[in-house]
Amino acid sequence: MNNPRSDQPSETAKITIGDKVVSCPVVTGVENEKALDISGLRNQTGYVTYDEGYANTASCLSSITFIDGEKGILRYRGIPVEELAEKRSFIEVAHLLIFGHLPSVSEKSAFSKLLTSNCMIHDNMVKLFDNLPSSSHPMATLSAMVVTLSAYYPELIKPEMSAEEMNKIIAELLAKIRTLAAYSYKKSIGEPIIYPKREYKYVENFLHMMFSTPVDEYPLDKEVVDALEKILILHADHEQNCSTSTVRLVGSSKANLFASISAGICALWGPLHGGANQAVIEMLEEIVRDGGDVKKVIEKAKDKNNPFLLMGFGHRIYKNFDPRAKVIKGICDTVLTKLGINDPCLEVAKTIEEAALKDDFFIQRKLYPNVDFYSGIILRAIGIPTNMFTVIFAMGRLPGWIAHWKEQCESPNKKIGRPRQIYVGAPLTHI
Ligand code: SDX
Repeated sequence: MNNPRSDQPSETAKITIGDKVVSCPVVTGVENEKALDISGLRNQTGYVTYDEGYANTASCLSSITFIDGEKGILRYRGIPVEELAEKRSFIEVAHLLIFGHLPSVSEKSAFSKLLTSNCMIHDNMVKLFDNLPSSSHPMATLSAMVVTLSAYYPELIKPEMSAEEMNKIIAELLAKIRTLAAYSYKKSIGEPIIYPKREYKYVENFLHMMFSTPVDEYPLDKEVVDALEKILILHADHEQNCSTSTVRLVGSSKANLFASISAGICALWGPLHGGANQAVIEMLEEIVRDGGDVKKVIEKAKDKNNPFLLMGFGHRIYKNFDPRAKVIKGICDTVLTKLGINDPCLEVAKTIEEAALKDDFFIQRKLYPNVDFYSGIILRAIGIPTNMFTVIFAMGRLPGWIAHWKEQCESPNKKIGRPRQIYVGAPLTHI
């Protein structure tokens, strides 16, 4: 592999195994991250590395997002996420992540028109929703419907695609994910689906399809639209997290975008990952019901004999504050004040954060609020039902998933992802 930092003197690391010394090239990233390139290790030594949860393993070279967990830095294509959330729209950020630059005025207009013209789904797909139980979790519906797009757009699932075909499938999915999400909600509450409006922008159309009815038009509140826009931007990418790594692994077999994203949605659903935003609200509601005893909750989270985790706290990468949590906490205060909502869950959340940040158990383990800790409070204030919180996360993360799938498709490294293992099962057994 060529070292991305060719301006740096080449560096090698020595690994000594018994009387053998093996040299491994050192790979240096743009922000001076260092990695041992062990591509030749097994051929030279017969050894593989073991790294549970890939906590110390880089799976790829990527130009999309940079995170510095110690300094609480998150940048999309080099731009701090705080600036993007403040100054740009979700669609502009999606364009930045997927195509590598913020769109010009004409590119933004063309991209927005493309998404608007592709946001309808085939009418036969609408009928599929009728055959799902109204109680089905929206993440199950979303994952099923996204992969079902492969059936309705077979011309877009070729293993080798032209740039034009790739842009088409990207636009189809980015445009339709809102429609699929809103329809799954409408079906779950037994209301007729609401079609998108050409004059509405991306987030406005989603709220319209979610909350308008055939008799009442949902009154778009700029504060609410702005808050949801920012939440989607803050969720848009996060380098090689569980669900993005899933999208890359599935895509590495040359599976199509719909199938790869459907797999990513399933990975995001887990409560240790994107499902945490739903778990946080359920935890806060339980604490409020139980009288708001935060000290009891903190002690329960510290009890090693208790499987309870303080949901929305901790992170594999951020060993300092999660920059997204800081922005979302600010949005919380703004939106709830604007909407005149006094949510006891917000007060409990702030009390938990204050108590945990003073507690040695959390300090020693560098456990801070992550992106999921406050986001659910805003979503609830907007009227998004709790079981749709992770769907909102998926909508936000879609541009990042697409960007990584595309980067891998276009990468000169076409290797299918296939980790090794250490076998600990039964020895040779004859029957
Ligand atoms: C997301 O990777 C990403 O980028 C993800 C994400 C993204 O944008 O894609 O940022 C989105 O998934 C955010 C995380 C949402 N999940 C939660 O909020 C669930 C609660 N958090 C934990 O499950 C946990 O912190 C993880 C999964 C987030 C991180 O787990 P790690 O890195 O594997 O850390 P660990 O489990 O090894 O924990 C280290 C120690 C352990 O204690 P000891 O064994 O050292 O005594 O910290 C403890 C853990 O028990 N710990 C917690 C805790 N999180 C970790 N203790 C109580 N409550 C917690 N939340």
